[in-house]
Amino acid sequence: MYTLGIETSCDETSCAILKDYKVLSNVTISSLREHRKYGGVVPEIATRAHLKNINKVLYGALGTSGISLDKIGLIAVTYKPGLIGSLVVGVNFAKALSYALKKPLIGVNHLYAHIFASFLNNDEKLEFPFLGLVVSGGHSEIYYVKDFDKIKLLGQTQDDACGEVFDKIAKAYGLDYPGGPAIDKLFDVRHKDYFKFKCGRSGLNLSFSGIKTALIYKKMEFEKKNLLDKNTKVKLLSSFQAASIEAVVSAILEAKAQYKLKVVACGGGVVANSYLRKRLKESEGKGDRFLIPPLEYTADNAAIVAGLGFYLYNKKGKVSSLTLEAEAN
Ligand code: KG4
Ligand code: ZN
Repeated sequence: MYTLGIETSCDETSCAILKDYKVLSNVTISSLREHRKYGGVVPEIATRAHLKNINKVLYGALGTSGISLDKIGLIAVTYKPGLIGSLVVGVNFAKALSYALKKPLIGVNHLYAHIFASFLNNDEKLEFPFLGLVVSGGHSEIYYVKDFDKIKLLGQTQDDACGEVFDKIAKAYGLDYPGGPAIDKLFDVRHKDYFKFKCGRSGLNLSFSGIKTALIYKKMEFEKKNLLDKNTKVKLLSSFQAASIEAVVSAILEAKAQYKLKVVACGGGVVANSYLRKRLKESEGKGDRFLIPPLEYTADNAAIVAGLGFYLYNKKGKVSSLTLEAEAN
């Protein structure tokens, strides 16, 4: 069966065509550059960009896959969580297509779609239960995945999301938006313990606001003494990246021990982080597996939405009605 996936929850407009779990095309236009001068996503700009780009990504995905619209058997769309104006564009587009093509519609939770990323192109690894780790610009969460329609939240950030802190610290240090890739590029593992930063963690809950403040104060302190050169910035930001990633790793290891689960499916933009990918692989014990998706499926994209939508429809018999509404949270 061919599934059309639609993703517009934040600043990426994306459409994908899957044949079962195999990705035939995954076309994304990001409005990222338009937000750069503001140092973060501006909702109104994101909404307008979705309106401008949604047809382009649809026809791009159809063209790349060689599949015509009349062959589509299911339409999967992100309906929560995200920016309301952004979500509305994708949800209404999906509803119109579903009505016009007379094909079923399924609304997908964006966070669960991130957890699904590792199962694209191969569904044989789907063995429940396992843990889900979502670290992105808006979320830092640990889930117990009994099945994709039985997901329980175990822990989450108490304040800022992990990617959000990378973005805010990068902005304070004069780096480009998004901050995650910018800090990761500067990261030098030799300086990972140069400064002793620490993130808050209480059980499976995390807190990133303290480390954010610490980094901003350190910057002001060095600036005052005229000592904030490139080398110092690299040392400060490397120590920050290591401390925040270690907090995520220690929380997920604790969840594994507590729930006696060996598999963790990871997703979200921060999973692109080189140090996190390395630390997760290093932390694999006997029989343990951290499922780390290819880079193209870590950030927001429609292939993960289509994949989860197809699973819920095909394995769980789920569908949404045309009254499906976007939900910000
Ligand atoms: O999943 P995503 O594309 O969008 C949301 O749903 O939020 O994640 C975007 C976030 C941004 O905060 C970005 O800075 C972060 O992922 N990110 C990274 C890296 N690449 C993207 N954070 C750390 N290291 C990276 N290499
Ligand atoms: Zn996301």
